[in-house]
Amino acid sequence: MATATADREQWGSRIGFVLAAAGSAIGLGNIWRFPYITGENGGAAFVVLYLLCIAFICLPYLFAELALGRNSQKNPVGAIAAIKARTPWMLVGALCVLTGVFILSYYGVVAGWAFGYIFKGLVAPATDAGTYFASFIADPWTVIPLMGFFMLFTISIVASGVEQGIERASKVLMPILLVLILVVIFRSVTLPGAGAGLEFYLNPDFSKVDGGVVLAALGQAFFSLSLGMGAMITYGSYLPKSENLLVSGGYVALFDTAIALLAGLMIFPAVFAMGQNPSEGPALVFVILPEVFGAMPLGSFVGAVFFTLLSIAALTSTVSLLEVVVSYFVDETSWSRKKSAWLVGGFTFLVGVPSALSQGGSDFFTNQLQLFGQTGFLNIMDYIWGNVSLALGALLLSIFVSWVWGADAAVRELQQGADGFTGMAVAVWRFFVKYVCPLFIAAILVGKVLGTI
Ligand code: PHE
Repeated sequence: MATATADREQWGSRIGFVLAAAGSAIGLGNIWRFPYITGENGGAAFVVLYLLCIAFICLPYLFAELALGRNSQKNPVGAIAAIKARTPWMLVGALCVLTGVFILSYYGVVAGWAFGYIFKGLVAPATDAGTYFASFIADPWTVIPLMGFFMLFTISIVASGVEQGIERASKVLMPILLVLILVVIFRSVTLPGAGAGLEFYLNPDFSKVDGGVVLAALGQAFFSLSLGMGAMITYGSYLPKSENLLVSGGYVALFDTAIALLAGLMIFPAVFAMGQNPSEGPALVFVILPEVFGAMPLGSFVGAVFFTLLSIAALTSTVSLLEVVVSYFVDETSWSRKKSAWLVGGFTFLVGVPSALSQGGSDFFTNQLQLFGQTGFLNIMDYIWGNVSLALGALLLSIFVSWVWGADAAVRELQQGADGFTGMAVAVWRFFVKYVCPLFIAAILVGKVLGTI
């Protein structure tokens, strides 16, 4: 692809961008992580806090990333260089690109499990889903090829380009995802005993809230919207000036939040109806649900539908993770899109192998490797890149946009395509992005670091 800005690819339509960006946001974070974090943090009160975080922290920050991306028409490194070339700020862009590679490396492993469970989960004995899952993820000959397949799908979508690949795939996949979720919800809420799950999920008990729950809500909101590593800078860079960033970004946040809330509605009624424990942790989806599916009518069908849905959601997220890195190589080097996608994807696959082996496949990567209070390669990677690096990236990017580039310049960018963004709305956004976001994000970071030391 030519490097001249005029020739840079763009999204074919608003709906194409919204679907692709929502596809990035919606993934394992919504369907696997949101329900188990909600379960661990007491249910409905956590959900209320999560919604407040989305509205008051993530949404203003999302507009900052989109404005920076469209203004520069560049990847995260190029976007920062366009404003502050040859300064240490460029390291923030580099951090984004690195974070993309490393999150993708272990995210691809979990996505591979989901993909495998479309087929394998169906043959799991109904009474022993936990043991089955443990042996499933411990077998290198299962998990490495599954991760490989998943990376191949991801690479081939990214290699064929923004409009041809990502947008076309999202247009087909996202509506299917929504329909599948609704089917599973219908099955779940019509089970006898589902009411207790609805109560847990929808009736808040604020006595369960403490500082840890607030931080968990903030962190989850952040991860779920793909913020803090330049995914929205990159996707914003493919938008024309006529696009209303506020409306498009608003839709993305709305879809992402809606899918997370629907995922909870899909899981909690079933878990309670089956007399299971909602605070089961990361295994909730992979261990509890197959058991739940196995013990209900049409269970194998519902299970296959569910893991198909989880794989589709994960794929549109892995595409965005790879796209951040590929856009860097396409913009900043002479590499073609195809070459970048295959080389970066292949490298990421290799980086992912130790994560794939960290669930029993290798004793060293599973048990012996310990760092920052985490045990096992995958957990360490998730802590460094999925937690600390995302929070750090977002803290630095919110400061960069509002104080270095300048809130005024960002407002002017947002106003292109959004005539109505004036007066009070501008004042409110400036206040949030200059003060509220950096302070709250700093709180997440400090909380995460202190919480594990
Ligand atoms: N938001 C994605 C999810 O919910 C994960 C992700 C994080 C994707 C950061 C891109 C960047 O699964």
